Amino acid sequence: MNTFLSNLKIRIESVILALLKRGPVKTIELIMMALKDEREDRKKGLLAHDFIDPRKELPHHPSSIHANYYQPIRTDSFLKILAIIPDPNSFRFVDIGAGTGKALILAADFGFKEISGVEFVPKLCEIARQNIERFSSKYPDIKFEIIEEDFRNITYSDKPTVFLLNDPFDNEMMMEFVSIFKKFERNHSWLIYKNVNLRSMPALRSLDTSHFYKTYDFDGNLFEVWSPRSSR
Ligand SMILES: C[S@@+](CC[C@H](N)C(=O)[O-])C[C@H]1O[C@@H](n2cnc3c(N)ncnc32)[C@H](O)[C@@H]1O
Repeated sequence: MNTFLSNLKIRIESVILALLKRGPVKTIELIMMALKDEREDRKKGLLAHDFIDPRKELPHHPSSIHANYYQPIRTDSFLKILAIIPDPNSFRFVDIGAGTGKALILAADFGFKEISGVEFVPKLCEIARQNIERFSSKYPDIKFEIIEEDFRNITYSDKPTVFLLNDPFDNEMMMEFVSIFKKFERNHSWLIYKNVNLRSMPALRSLDTSHFYKTYDFDGNLFEVWSPRSSR
């Protein structure tokens, strides 16, 4: 299937899912938001709007069956959620399932000095590197990194970290992420989960006892946030 048709298929599927979960009014509002983002990103020269399905790109990869397709974070709501992090300068920012790197570039405006994206689809990593190349001169003090790998196969730094997960995978894979994240508890790390499809994600519930849990709904963009108890 060519890129145009595959993009169209993913968009139609995501609209159907939104209609089922949120109803027609909210779905139309979300479509309008997505179209506005797409226009603005294209104007800025940010390549972020080819929807790519990891299952098609990596049919034999053991993680692709658990993966959600790529779609970019929505700018306005993401900027609002980043604004809740106190002193971003003292954290690394890591996007698990970074796609085209859009969230990495937006995070750069918030004072993070080390910004990494982990993404296992080579085509998306290639676009992310192009985006970073294009925007990095605006951020000379920031170290950007794209790690082309399954998030399960890398070694994480033990520096305090803000992890972003924009609906990258199912609950089974989330259990594996949670066990990695739990190793960071002593380091006061944050987890921001954007629950695009209003999924029930039982794996994340095990963090409720160790962290503060709060939800934020910005015009239908639902974020679930686990922050270290010591940050209050
Ligand atoms: C909804 S997109 C989010 C993109 C980006 N974080 C953003 O917010 O703009 C989810 C991404 O997670 C990636 N992904 C899924 N499973 C993964 C895994 N096991 N390791 C690394 N990346 C993964 C997918 O390929 C996809 O690009």
